[in-house]
Amino acid sequence: MIDDIDRIMAVMALAFDPAFGEAWNRRQVEDAMHFGNCHYGLAAAGCLPPADDAPAAGFFLSRTGFEEEELLLLGVSPAFRKQGLGRYLLEDLRRGASERGAKRLLLEMRRGNPAESLYKAFGFYQIGERRDYYRTQGGDRIDAITFACDIE
Ligand SMILES: CC(C)(COP(=O)(O)OP(=O)(O)OC[C@H]1O[C@@H](n2cnc3c(N)ncnc32)[C@H](O)[C@@H]1OP(=O)(O)O)[C@@H](O)C(=O)NCCC(=O)NCCS
Repeated sequence: MIDDIDRIMAVMALAFDPAFGEAWNRRQVEDAMHFGNCHYGLAAAGCLPPADDAPAAGFFLSRTGFEEEELLLLGVSPAFRKQGLGRYLLEDLRRGASERGAKRLLLEMRRGNPAESLYKAFGFYQIGERRDYYRTQGGDRIDAITFACDIE
């Protein structure tokens, strides 16, 4: 049986552009799972959970807070994009967060991330920004934008 952290790390290695330094290492993911009040979801092609011995095509990682759940990472391997897996993972997150008592989802992303249209189509709206919050590997500064999505 494939370990879920192995599945997450395999997607992590493919999904995140190294220029932005957004990918987490294995230790960060393990610590989040064990100590960080974090949750995850996996997706395979066809917007289904992966079969027992199959790798994942996408994952999310989130952290539960008081009546809020923050999306920490969302990644889909490039070969599986534009097939609805990102949205499927957000729906999985919303369902799980609702069961855990969350009233809204939160996330923070760098300005200009193409994921913004997916988030907005899903129901996220901007609630804040931090000027020049991120720094790329090349030294450029990029604003962080905070989004929220209400859970009915
Ligand atoms: C952001 C990310 C998770 C989206 O994953 P995805 O599986 O491609 O997401 P979806 O397929 O649900 O939606 C993406 C787009 O495909 C479109 N789409 C969905 N199903 C489709 C289909 N069957 N055919 C064509 N397009 C489709 C959606 O309408 C959406 O359009 P948009 O580009 O206007 O937003 C992925 O691009 C990624 O891993 N990016 C790198 C990591 C990252 O930046 N993560 C977010 C910050 S942590």
